Amino acid sequence: MPLDTLDLSVLAAIVVALIVFFTKGTLWGKGDSGSSTPVSSSGSRDLIEALNENDKKALVIYGSQTGTAEDYAHKYAKEFQARFGIPTMCIDMSDFDYDNLPDVFEQVMGFKLITFFMATYGEGEPTDNAVDFFECVENELVDLNGLKFSCFGLGNSTYEFYNAMGKRLTQSLLEKNATMIGELGLGDDGAGSMDEDYLAWKDGLFDLLKDSLNLEEKEVSYEPSLKVTEVSDLTIEDKQVALGEPNAKYVNPKSDDDIALLTTGPFDHTHPYLAPITHTKELFHSKDRHCVHAEFDLSGTNLKYSTGDHIAIWPSNSDEKVATLLKALGLTSKKDQVIDLKSLDSTFHIPIPTPTTYETVIRHHLEISGPVSRQFLKSVVQFSPDETTHKNVLSLGDDKDLFHKEVTSQYLNIADALLKLSKGSAWTKVPFAFIIESIAHIQPRYYSISSSSLSEKQTVHVTAVVENETYPNVDHNVTGVATNLLLNIATKQNKNELALAQHYDLDGPRNKFSHFKLPVHIRRSTFKLPSNPATPIIMIGPGTGIAPFRGFIREKVKQRANGVEKIGKSLLFFGCRNSNDDFLYKEEWVDYAKKLGDSFELITAFSRETEKKVYVQHKLLANASKVNELLNEGAFFYVCGDASRMARDVNNTLVKILVQERGLSEENATEFVKKLRVSNRYQEDVW
Ligand SMILES: Cc1cc2nc3c(=O)[nH]c(=O)nc-3n(C[C@H](O)[C@H](O)[C@H](O)COP(=O)(O)OP(=O)(O)OC[C@H]3O[C@@H](n4cnc5c(N)ncnc54)[C@H](O)[C@@H]3O)c2cc1C
Ligand SMILES: Cc1cc2nc3c(=O)[nH]c(=O)nc-3n(C[C@H](O)[C@H](O)[C@H](O)COP(=O)(O)O)c2cc1C
Ligand SMILES: *[C@@H]1O[C@H](CO)[C@@H](O)[C@H](O)[C@H]1NC(C)=O
Ligand SMILES: *[C@@H]1O[C@H](CO)[C@@H](O)[C@H](O)[C@H]1NC(C)=O
Ligand SMILES: *[C@@H]1O[C@H](CO)[C@@H](O)[C@H](O)[C@H]1NC(C)=O
Ligand SMILES: *[C@@H]1O[C@H](CO)[C@@H](O)[C@H](O)[C@H]1NC(C)=O
Ligand SMILES: *[C@@H]1O[C@H](CO)[C@@H](O)[C@H](O)[C@H]1NC(C)=O
Ligand SMILES: *[C@@H]1O[C@H](CO)[C@@H](O)[C@H](O)[C@H]1NC(C)=O
Ligand SMILES: *[C@@H]1O[C@H](CO)[C@@H](O)[C@H](O)[C@H]1NC(C)=O
Repeated sequence: MPLDTLDLSVLAAIVVALIVFFTKGTLWGKGDSGSSTPVSSSGSRDLIEALNENDKKALVIYGSQTGTAEDYAHKYAKEFQARFGIPTMCIDMSDFDYDNLPDVFEQVMGFKLITFFMATYGEGEPTDNAVDFFECVENELVDLNGLKFSCFGLGNSTYEFYNAMGKRLTQSLLEKNATMIGELGLGDDGAGSMDEDYLAWKDGLFDLLKDSLNLEEKEVSYEPSLKVTEVSDLTIEDKQVALGEPNAKYVNPKSDDDIALLTTGPFDHTHPYLAPITHTKELFHSKDRHCVHAEFDLSGTNLKYSTGDHIAIWPSNSDEKVATLLKALGLTSKKDQVIDLKSLDSTFHIPIPTPTTYETVIRHHLEISGPVSRQFLKSVVQFSPDETTHKNVLSLGDDKDLFHKEVTSQYLNIADALLKLSKGSAWTKVPFAFIIESIAHIQPRYYSISSSSLSEKQTVHVTAVVENETYPNVDHNVTGVATNLLLNIATKQNKNELALAQHYDLDGPRNKFSHFKLPVHIRRSTFKLPSNPATPIIMIGPGTGIAPFRGFIREKVKQRANGVEKIGKSLLFFGCRNSNDDFLYKEEWVDYAKKLGDSFELITAFSRETEKKVYVQHKLLANASKVNELLNEGAFFYVCGDASRMARDVNNTLVKILVQERGLSEENATEFVKKLRVSNRYQEDVW
């Protein structure tokens, strides 16, 4: 039977229900967070009240999971406000109720426009903070005649449901007779063109706005949303100065309640736990590639996980990268200067505890190490240290191809780019407020938990491959923030002699991270074992995609030890370069196989051991009849790891297997796979 739209809407409803269920009270849960933006002085969730109270005439709303949409939304709001002189409020989608959305244009004098920034998650699903909003727009609001909006979607074209949320929102609003200004922007992470897509959409929209909303453009100059003041009577020794504690509550706790909060929680994404890392080890046997196994101890806290969940690790930046940015900004000698941050706009919330120091902001709060964007250069050019630099930066900002050649292909981050363009001179004219506003806030990194909550209740294992690449004609190692931090910890904890590509302050602010601690929180996922242990499972997890499956297998081992009688077959496909260097947990599988007997089988694909490259999907196909047999017995099918190629190849291979083994037409086999997905028997945990 073809999957009709009814099925899809039922699925959507289930997915929404599941997300609500899994995230209730834990993720973006507002009740206990304490740090959500009090936009309305009364703390009300009434949108109109907040707009009127703050005298705002335009609204930017973002649905964001990992901060990209949030970041673009803030920049857009700021530029919109500066260019057209319209006071603009930028909000998190979950901060308000939307039942009075249709009245905004009437009840807020002179209100102009709502702009949405919508990221897509999961398999075409809303971000956690957008779930309730969609529910309201789609099921509660009826007539949106009069509402004017524009929308920029953030997605990744390697996913099947590309930019599904931007599209779905636009469609819903249009169906309800709202008016769209400009076109739906489609930002594509997959093609690596998010920044360019955004600039093209924004420039087009701004041109249109002048006509359709009769807006007048002003000369743009930077208008700070916050004020940075150097404080002369405080030093880093003073207890109230925040030095990078992950949350204001960690700074100088005063009462017993405060202290209890730090040790027992509740901990969540707004208040991470400083978890001790009790054990680390290197999983590769290679000179220049590394993969870290790390164990986080959550005992004594309210933090619970269940097998298949994710752990979020909150990193800070490396000594090298912090030093380069301080140098680029001419702040090296003032790095420990105490500064106070004050919002100049009642709706602009600064997510950095204050007072603090220049170095703290750079080390602990800003995402300083990824590739610099053309947009950043375009906006920083006004603060160029000299005429030549100004000209240089201007030409790069306006020329996509030149920017690619000089900056992107050189893997330059913000500090590298600034120093390269100024030929080493410090950019002392850049206001620090501009830096805080223009550079994204550092985000936690997620890892698929590789332990089982049944076998280790409050110990979370992580399997992280270290991001460290060199490229031809690029003069530095291109490194990831969190994974090199984990490698630093593993190296120090095991007293290894390893030339580290990056170094970190492992003791953290006031030694609070010493003895190997990092801030973490748990994120629920829907990637779960079947509830019946007898149901067979097929798992495809090459590289670090193996992580959750190690958890699954440990769960099975524990079930066996607990005397569970019927344990279904577990067929695990793992792939890596070769059996000696990067075969993750090589020895452990032998042990699990001993304990699980026939019910466990590991099939490996080593891509660099044979002349022709062999990947997991090839092994899957080679074992087609076995796979089909297990599916007939009701097996669940799991894929974890690289989303771009592997997940797609595996999906296509499964279609092939069904054609081959069941004599289905390709169309019917595709339909069958889709149904597996809909009924949750085909699950993906990909990134
Ligand atoms: C749900 C989920 C589960 C995950 N599970 C796992 C897991 O189990 N194991 C695992 O290893 N990972 C996992 N990841 C990926 C993980 O979250 C991180 O993205 C990854 O570890 C890299 O983090 P990082 O901080 O080291 O790199 P980042 O600092 O975030 O860098 C990201 C990439 O950018 C590159 N880069 C850095 N600087 C530049 C520059 N100037 N120019 C261009 N490129 C640059 C880096 O080399 C790196 O490849 C998961 C992700 C998700 C979303
Ligand atoms: C786990 C995961 C699932 C995703 N699913 C989709 C998807 O189904 N469709 C899509 O277009 N993009 C998808 N994306 C890409 C994100 O929408 C894109 O990276 C976006 O920039 C993220 O914005 P945010 O940082 O504001 O959350 C996914 C990304 C991740 C990490
Ligand atoms: C939208 O407008 C059309 C034409 O004016 C009207 O027929 C329709 O009922 C409106 N739809 C809604 C949901 O108000
Ligand atoms: C980083 O990569 C370079 C180049 O491949 C390699 O020489 C070096 O050993 C790596 N270092 C670490 C710590 O991963
Ligand atoms: C890359 O990192 C290694 C240590 O892992 C270091 O020895 C080497 O000098 C670095 N290369 C560059 C170009 O910085
Ligand atoms: C899987 O395929 C390989 C290669 O053809 C074969 O050696 C192995 O026996 C198969 N395993 C199963 C369980 O069918
Ligand atoms: C887009 O998705 C592909 C597949 O998941 C992934 O390899 C790529 O890193 C993603 N791009 C970004 C910028 O997240
Ligand atoms: C799975 O493969 C089928 C057939 O190749 C394709 O039509 C479908 O879009 C794929 N689904 C995903 C999620 O990649
Ligand atoms: C495909 O499915 C349709 C509808 O269920 C059925 O009529 C047709 O015979 C199937 N074709 C094959 C080759 O399985």
